[in-house]
Amino acid sequence: MQALYNIAKISAMIIKKLFLPVSLFFLPLPAFMQTKTIDQKVDSVLKLMTLDEKIGQMNQYNGDWESTGPITKDGDKQNQVRKGMLGSMLNVTGVDHTRTLQEMAMQSRLKIPLLFGQDIIHGYRTIFPVPLAEASSWDTAAIRLSARIAATEAAAAGVHWTFAPMVDIARDPRWGRVMEGAGEDPFLGSLIAAARVKGFQGKGLGNIDALMACAKHFAAYGAAIGGRDYNSVDMSERTLWEIYLPPFKAAVDAGAATLMNSFNDLNGIPASGNKYLQRDILKGKWNFKGFIVSDWGSIGEMIQHGFVKDNYEAALAAVTAGSDMDMESRSYINNLSKLVKEGKVKMQLIDEAVKRILRKKFELGLFNDPFKFCNKEREQQQWNNPENLKAEKIIAEKSIVLLKNDHLPGQQNHLLPLSKQIKTIALIGPFVKGIRDNLGFWSYSWPDDSVRIVSVWRGIENKVGSNTKLLYAKGCEIDDSSLVGFAEAMETARQADVVIMSMGEASDMSGEAKSRSNIHLPGVQEELIRGIQATGKPVIVMISAGRPLIFNWTADNVPAILYTWWLGTEAGDAIADVLFGDYNPSAKLPISFPRTEGQIPIYYNHYKTGRPATSDSDRFYRSAYIDLSIYPKFPFGYGLSYTNFNYSDIQLSHSTLHANEVIRATVTVSNTGNFDGEETVQLYIQDLVGSVVRPVKELKGFQKVFLKKGESRQITFTIGIDKLKFYNAGLKYLAEPGDFKIYIGGNSRDVKETGFTLK
Ligand code: NOJ
Repeated sequence: MQALYNIAKISAMIIKKLFLPVSLFFLPLPAFMQTKTIDQKVDSVLKLMTLDEKIGQMNQYNGDWESTGPITKDGDKQNQVRKGMLGSMLNVTGVDHTRTLQEMAMQSRLKIPLLFGQDIIHGYRTIFPVPLAEASSWDTAAIRLSARIAATEAAAAGVHWTFAPMVDIARDPRWGRVMEGAGEDPFLGSLIAAARVKGFQGKGLGNIDALMACAKHFAAYGAAIGGRDYNSVDMSERTLWEIYLPPFKAAVDAGAATLMNSFNDLNGIPASGNKYLQRDILKGKWNFKGFIVSDWGSIGEMIQHGFVKDNYEAALAAVTAGSDMDMESRSYINNLSKLVKEGKVKMQLIDEAVKRILRKKFELGLFNDPFKFCNKEREQQQWNNPENLKAEKIIAEKSIVLLKNDHLPGQQNHLLPLSKQIKTIALIGPFVKGIRDNLGFWSYSWPDDSVRIVSVWRGIENKVGSNTKLLYAKGCEIDDSSLVGFAEAMETARQADVVIMSMGEASDMSGEAKSRSNIHLPGVQEELIRGIQATGKPVIVMISAGRPLIFNWTADNVPAILYTWWLGTEAGDAIADVLFGDYNPSAKLPISFPRTEGQIPIYYNHYKTGRPATSDSDRFYRSAYIDLSIYPKFPFGYGLSYTNFNYSDIQLSHSTLHANEVIRATVTVSNTGNFDGEETVQLYIQDLVGSVVRPVKELKGFQKVFLKKGESRQITFTIGIDKLKFYNAGLKYLAEPGDFKIYIGGNSRDVKETGFTLK
């Protein structure tokens, strides 16, 4: 990704070559068009279009300059733009760059503006924590703000459309793309999906800072078998509806302008040719009014799937199934015209797709002003907006998960937070002075990154006073077998009062096409941790990653661990705030952390079996491994604070629930520790007997509560019948009378419980 994204340099080159006089060709809509509704305007434009121009709108190419997939050589793209044979481009960004191409589109017969799309996954100029990290905040307002800022920056750089949010549920951390989503839970995932869509689209398309969202990858891509990217998905309808579809539905309900389909087949039908998903569910049952873009080349890849013979058949299958725009496979542009002329594709199908696309161009305001997003001044304003950096730091702090914080032997206090008066701190590890790796996959590389991105070293240096001496040793590389740095690192540790180790995976080890069969802390990093721990100094380990990694020895032996994910531009300052107690960690894991790869998939909301193992001492002829704990290393919802939260027993307003009524479940949460802090109070429900087997528990609510030290607060959840519904064997969504359990606590395992009956 790094090499691919040196956008600023490349843009400058292109502009030199291609720059044309500004607004030379743009003509605003005639007055009679201004008073019509959008649908009428769309129809008026459609009437003027030839078949080829219509098909052009359904065609999307990569800009020639960066790529996020296999490139098709095509020297004729710009001509095609001028002929109106292209509806959209991806990986084209920057005001000058987008203006240049839009001017070419304005030379076409009908002057239909181009749409510029880009993967703005976790920030554009200001890079935010990777989505899985942000999901750890369980803070939908913060997540929405992060998307809002990303949209503001990208829209100011001429971009109209982001290929985000990725709302795929992911239960397999071997899958590199877990970093792009919100983790394993459909309830949390749905709230986050809606927050991100609303954040990107702001006050609505048409506003100058709104970016079209694109919920992806429709559908079930997160369940790629074995966590191997681009792999098949085979799942029951119930799992599809209950686990994988809800975040998409939430994104659609939140107004997502577009959806992207996916590379995988679902139960044998590739998503791009899947009528059930696209026409029946999305455009039918859910009444989705936006358009569907294919994933990169996915229409053509139906040939490799063995689902169609060639691009001609691929185009037929995809358009019939409801894929509106072809990203980069050229199946539509090369075959649709023939298919229509032969009567295999009805003009009505083409018109429907084109209308959906044109409608979004109208909603964005591009027909009124195709250069609306090409304002140099605005781009400059957003280029280094200090407010955006401030927001980034806060969101980064909210994303850091405190996994462990023990007392040191013979001491009263926990190791963290550290005192700012410490005399000597050793900073050890391959991430201490890392720059780019703080951003993670799907981020852009700007020429001034080394100044902008706050490394761990710089963050800690900014935090401590002149009385604190900082020592540094790298110790080892991220993924290497050499031990040569160990001796120096151990010597450095010996000279310090405290050691902070910054470890993890490189930014290109999680992300698209970054599935890994081994998700242990890479290289010799854990050996280095053992060596440093053996010096007897107090050790804090911080782990940067895009996925749950495995680090059992560290988890069992090192007194303090922070999971810092990939935190973005302000990473170092956010980390320093947490280390020294200026921010009390509040994040909770949105995905279970396995003990070994052999435990995958492991997720908290699994179905009940006939032979459940109830504990690690109850595994005889049970659903368990004989050589492995039944528990994950860290469960879903888990995360510590510098303070303690105590939960009272649950009080219920009633012990029976009738349809149309609600039950209130109340707990008192008390901050019994020594710091003010924020807790995420989680509500889980279990249906004890169902006409189909139900999960052991399901997240159905959570509340974030900030409590001063010594403070207590009553937290009430309202439970109505909606929280009890599920898909039965006939896929009816309903609640069945019977007994339910309620669990409330600070993570999915440590909970108080009670029960009630649905009459
Ligand atoms: C392929 C990825 O799967 C998708 O998420 C992304 O948006 C496109 N490439 C465009 O870069």
